[in-house]
Amino acid sequence: MSTQPTAREQWNSRLGFMLAALGSAVGLGNIWRFSYVAGESGGAAFLLIYLLCIAAIGIPILMAEFTIGRRAQQDVVGSFQSIAPGKPWVIGGFLGVASAFIILSFYGVVAGWSLYYFTQYLTGGPQPPAGGDYGDFFGQFHTATWFPLLWQFLFMFMVVAIVFVGVKKGIEKSNKILMPLLAILVLILAGYGMTLGGAGEALSFLFAPDWSALADPGIYLAALSQAFFSLSLGMGALITYGSYLSKKEKLPGAAVGVASMDSLFAIVAGLMIFPAVFTFGIAPDSGPGLVFVTLPQVFSDLNMGLIYGLLFFFLLTAAAVSSGVSLLEVAVAYFMRQMNWTRQKASVIIGTIIFFIGIPSSLGFGAWSGVTLIGGRDIQDSMDFLASYIFLPIGGLIIALFIGWGWKKSDALEASNFGDSLIGNIWIWILRIFAPAAIILVFLGSTGLLDLLF
Ligand code: PHE
Repeated sequence: MSTQPTAREQWNSRLGFMLAALGSAVGLGNIWRFSYVAGESGGAAFLLIYLLCIAAIGIPILMAEFTIGRRAQQDVVGSFQSIAPGKPWVIGGFLGVASAFIILSFYGVVAGWSLYYFTQYLTGGPQPPAGGDYGDFFGQFHTATWFPLLWQFLFMFMVVAIVFVGVKKGIEKSNKILMPLLAILVLILAGYGMTLGGAGEALSFLFAPDWSALADPGIYLAALSQAFFSLSLGMGALITYGSYLSKKEKLPGAAVGVASMDSLFAIVAGLMIFPAVFTFGIAPDSGPGLVFVTLPQVFSDLNMGLIYGLLFFFLLTAAAVSSGVSLLEVAVAYFMRQMNWTRQKASVIIGTIIFFIGIPSSLGFGAWSGVTLIGGRDIQDSMDFLASYIFLPIGGLIIALFIGWGWKKSDALEASNFGDSLIGNIWIWILRIFAPAAIILVFLGSTGLLDLLF
């Protein structure tokens, strides 16, 4: 059964592929997750480790995913199976499909919040309750039982609709316009942030590391997970996208481009959010609600703030849609091949299942707020922990080892377009030794196992 029944869909152009990969990478991870995790993990020291993780581990694994996907021209499970039939590497593929279900389930909840905020700005902006602030507004909204589910549903509906139509038609076009717009808007808002009273404090929070924070092993795993989450790495989203790429395109440039743009987005988002956090006296470590409490405050103080708010939450939702699409596509591509389903059938069925899996994450903020699953975390945080702290890094580890040790070196160098160059050889050795060792060390360190050894 190795023959492909129909010609596989392909991107129209190299730019189309780059934008799709960027569309997957840039999303809630850069703005919502980055800001609250950086806020909780102490800012600059976290940012530093995060950028190191992107450069030394993220980019090489990103390259590895593109290489695997393009060589195999298959979904994530099929990629491992067709390149190394009968070998255990395919576990990485199944982990990837599982991660797609878990991440999209809670991603849909938060993206639903963003969609709701967008509609609020259509009608005069969010109105804090009498005597309350935007924190109270957000609190009342996201702890309700039914209402947030409506928005989560609408978001999932949009994601399913795009995957339903297909990769090229659905994914490639919208990214070309919306992505650059979001970049411009975030830049403008960061510029405004610099005029706020809290700008100095924000700059030192983000860029002047408190070195003692490096002694906390938890910060390394937080940074590594954020790097994986933000780059859409370790679960085959980029294997799947790479599989729609023709053999002609050069990979290394695309990988570096995607990773730098993605990190730049996160940093500028930090410059947009933290000045306001300090100006308005919001706690940097106030958790997943951070942007939903901080930014409305900014927009209410800003000239024409309603328009900025409208645009911002529109573009944030659009960025979340293109990331959601790449998550759903991982599962859909797998089920299409495995169950012989049509794209349409697969996207509706899988999208519906993921919506239902996401419901407890939403309820965990309100009706089920007493429920804790992993180490005292609420339901959404537990889902995030399972996927981002465990599945993605392990998936990344498997992907690195797969190319590093599972492929002939010459084969990997050729498939990646590096050829037998110095940089190609460095890449291989990062995948063979450095990245796996770093991931394992970070795990051991954060579980305290390393303390037992030394
Ligand atoms: N990278 C996306 C974001 O930053 C989230 C994502 C994770 C998408 C994993 C696909 C796979 O929002």
